[in-house]
Amino acid sequence: MELETLTVEIEAPRATITFNRPDKKNAMNPQMHLDMNTALDALEERRDLKVLVITGSGNSFSAGMDLEECFLQPFEDADLFYRTNLAALKWFQRLKAFPLVTIAQVNGYAFGGGFEVTGLCDLAVAAEDVKFGLSEINFGIFPAGGATWAVTHNMPRKQALYYILTGATLTGTEAAQYGLVNQAVPAEELEAAVDAMVARIVNKNPVTLRLAKEVYEATTTMDLPRAIDYDQAKLWELSRLSDNEWITVALKQFEKRSFRPGIATYSRTEADDASKRSA
Ligand code: ACO
Repeated sequence: MELETLTVEIEAPRATITFNRPDKKNAMNPQMHLDMNTALDALEERRDLKVLVITGSGNSFSAGMDLEECFLQPFEDADLFYRTNLAALKWFQRLKAFPLVTIAQVNGYAFGGGFEVTGLCDLAVAAEDVKFGLSEINFGIFPAGGATWAVTHNMPRKQALYYILTGATLTGTEAAQYGLVNQAVPAEELEAAVDAMVARIVNKNPVTLRLAKEVYEATTTMDLPRAIDYDQAKLWELSRLSDNEWITVALKQFEKRSFRPGIATYSRTEADDASKRSA
């Protein structure tokens, strides 16, 4: 799928969205916000996908909002500002709740919206030399549109407030220390590190992946008794939607000692068709 500001590659079960305005360090302009919603619409409907990787073309993940097209120019045009803002806020929220496992593959620069997208993805790998920054304070605002939320839900309080209040940059290595990304690797190993992470996910049952995300997200705001109620209901949902694959395939293989669940995943070759029917 070729959109004006993005490329979308699909090699099921993996999809990759690449921000594609390299001459503008992949700053997110209004067209990119519209394109992201179009891309997510298309990917959401594909039941053969499990993982969505988001990355940037050229030497930048994303320099955040296009400061001219999203803020400066719409300043005189309230309708344009409203439409642009709506499209941006819509896809940021969708990304957080997206049914696929989302992985940010972060290269070069990740400012403002680029920092936020890293935080909203489920998982993230960065090049060690990436420059992350919440530059909002440098031009007189604070991180908004979910950016403060994304920082506070990924980083410890002192670090979150430091970067919010100073606009200082942090490297990919520091981002890994503080928990904003899972891993920082030398730039030349970035793609391979993401491929390895994808490989660990795509051999899992797609229904289980989706429900595992739902249970994580929903139970973070519940007390323990409610969380247990919720996860038990989801476990029944999982069993129903996957034809009890965890019992009839996975644990049967364990019974025959053909795999060790502590260190490996069961073989899904025979189960794949059944779960595609019911996913
Ligand atoms: N909005 C609009 N244009 C941008 C943005 C942006 N966020 N970031 C980079 N560009 C443009 C530059 O203006 C320049 O365009 P030009 O060739 O027409 O002059 C082009 O991308 C290349 O950028 P340079 O500044 O020449 O590249 P350099 O490597 O020297 O610096 C850097 C890169 C540090 C990312 C710098 O461009 C920058 O500070 N950008 C702004 C980052 C930022 O503060 N983003 C806003 C975050 S807040 C939010 O998202 C709400």
